[in-house]
Amino acid sequence: MSEPTKPSRDALIALERAHVWPPYTSRDKHEQHEPLVIVEAEGSWLTDHDGRRYFDAIGSWWTCTLGHRHPRLVHRVKEQSDRLFHVAAGGNTHPEIALLARELAAVAPKGLTRMHFSDDGSTSIEVATKIAFQYWQQNGRPARRRFVALAGAYHGDTLAAMSLASIEEFRGTFGPLLFEIHRAPHPSEVGGWDRVLEEVTRTMRAHGDEIAALVVEPLVQGASGMRMHPPEVLRALHALTREIDTFFVADEVFTGYGRTGSMWACERAGVVPDLLCTAKGFTAGVLPMAATIASERVYDGFSGGASRALMHGHTFCGHALGAAVAREVLAIYRDEEVLEGIAPRADRIAAWTERLASIEGVSGHRALGMIGAIDLGDVGYGGTGLGQRVAERARERGVLLRPLGDTIYVTPRLNVPMDELGWLLDTVEDVVRTTTRS
Ligand SMILES: Cc1ncc(COP(=O)(O)O)c(C=O)c1O
Repeated sequence: MSEPTKPSRDALIALERAHVWPPYTSRDKHEQHEPLVIVEAEGSWLTDHDGRRYFDAIGSWWTCTLGHRHPRLVHRVKEQSDRLFHVAAGGNTHPEIALLARELAAVAPKGLTRMHFSDDGSTSIEVATKIAFQYWQQNGRPARRRFVALAGAYHGDTLAAMSLASIEEFRGTFGPLLFEIHRAPHPSEVGGWDRVLEEVTRTMRAHGDEIAALVVEPLVQGASGMRMHPPEVLRALHALTREIDTFFVADEVFTGYGRTGSMWACERAGVVPDLLCTAKGFTAGVLPMAATIASERVYDGFSGGASRALMHGHTFCGHALGAAVAREVLAIYRDEEVLEGIAPRADRIAAWTERLASIEGVSGHRALGMIGAIDLGDVGYGGTGLGQRVAERARERGVLLRPLGDTIYVTPRLNVPMDELGWLLDTVEDVVRTTTRS
């Protein structure tokens, strides 16, 4: 039998342009932009239709913490495929989900032992929001309907997630559909984090009876430009939730699974949330799956009859193939000592940002764990186009970047070999130097 003809790159792009509605892309841009046509991936590398390789410097939207097609994950997918892909979670269970729940509880911050499984980061936030809201409705504090979140927050693109977020480019149009929250000011508006904390303290104390939860991306706000805050800020925010006895929701969709150097960013500040959202690294980019992890105190608030149940579920809740992969991810972290291997890589990334900080035109730099970022202008989602030019030149040199406005960042896989990391950092440095000069 002859091999089926492989469609050409141009034919694939034409089909894509004719029928796909891509994320975050206007129709005009879609029709003009030349996308990479990726046909394969392995480790740190993506291969396009013409056989060219690109270093995945953004871990495919921060998910591929173990690199592409880790052999154990490939094997686990095949093995589980021989047994069970999926069964409705309503009224049924299966070994993978029960075992995953226990294994996740063992690595979650102490006391977070109750898992609600769903499909993606936005959904895990949606679920946390609904849990916090419903908890107070049915446990004697119905006035608790408001959420508190930080300026610069991003929690996903569904309606509750957008309500909590503050990046105008994402939420602006949808303003009339979103619910009101108490939003802390940005440190640059009020003169630093101390002032922000004063404001949040005032709000929490004045409106304690109305606050259902405070929601935060611990230590790093990814989408708004890899903005970082010190652990003391997180501790102070957490302490405020203890003071008024409301919930602290940690959105660890980006920061979890070792991205900041520890399994959870909250650990670095010594805080234990009431609800923790995880996705991305949860299946290391293999399948869409997420979890909202709650304390037993939160779950106890749902004891009682049918009217007290959390009325939230998804067709693919607790997908067996996803759960098998999520279990294998945890096993790989343990067996390959993934978290233990981060420190030397993180030092290298931090040293790189320091080095780039001396380049004329670089206005800011920061690093934490497996995140390194530099600014070529204001921090923010928009940008002047300089970030985009760096990305285009990097692509010519075999590196896939996706700047946030004029902020260039790298978030490689956590287990990236040192020589590959060195190559990536040197290449991006060279591209930044030549682009800012021209
Ligand atoms: C902190 C944070 N929360 C939530 C989300 C939304 O996750 P998803 O894109 O899987 O819906 C993201 C996505 O980047 C994120 O960075």
